[in-house]
Amino acid sequence: MWIFAFLFLQSISNVFGEDLHSSLYFVNASLQEVVFSSTTGALVPCPAAAVPPATLRWYLATGEEIYDVPGIRHVHPNGTLQIYGFLPSSFSNLINDNTYYCTAENPSGKIRSQDLHIKAVFREPYTVRVADQRVMRGNTAVFKCIIPASVEEYVTVVSWEKDTVSLVSGKNLDAG
Ligand SMILES: *[C@@H]1O[C@H](CO)[C@@H](O)[C@H](O)[C@H]1NC(C)=O
Ligand SMILES: *[C@@H]1O[C@H](CO)[C@@H](O)[C@H](O)[C@H]1NC(C)=O
Repeated sequence: MWIFAFLFLQSISNVFGEDLHSSLYFVNASLQEVVFSSTTGALVPCPAAAVPPATLRWYLATGEEIYDVPGIRHVHPNGTLQIYGFLPSSFSNLINDNTYYCTAENPSGKIRSQDLHIKAVFREPYTVRVADQRVMRGNTAVFKCIIPASVEEYVTVVSWEKDTVSLVSGKNLDAG
């Protein structure tokens, strides 16, 4: 038991530095994408756990440190990146669909998070439709559910209906 505890402490000190009173690491290191609604915006913390507290900074994946854009993007003193809600007309790829990373720095050292894709989706009404198909009698007709490209990624076909009667609801439904 004591040996185990000793080894455990030793492995912690290897990871976090010689001084057990200071540490620096990312929680949620696997988080790679944040998808948010354009109406609400997003608050994205830089997920570092640090003793003593770390200085947190955000960058674009290109390495540029990001700057505040009033009413659009802000980095709070606690290291949380905020992207404000916006109207579809003011969508900006640079801000509303981009890849970021953050760094955390304290006396233990400096670490960089994984790249994090932060992307807005629009909550707007959409309609799906089915195009008419003509086939020779005896052949197979293939119908496709046509979904607007802007929402396609987030919409799943759950059933087909004929005269309000559900035909099938299985995995063979084609969303394409
Ligand atoms: C890790 O990420 C998940 C999903 O985004 C979130 O629900 C959870 O609160 C996060 N945990 C921490 C410790 O930040
Ligand atoms: C950081 O500050 C912002 C603005 O005050 C707040 O909304 C957010 O919840 C804070 N995040 C954390 C992780 O404390």
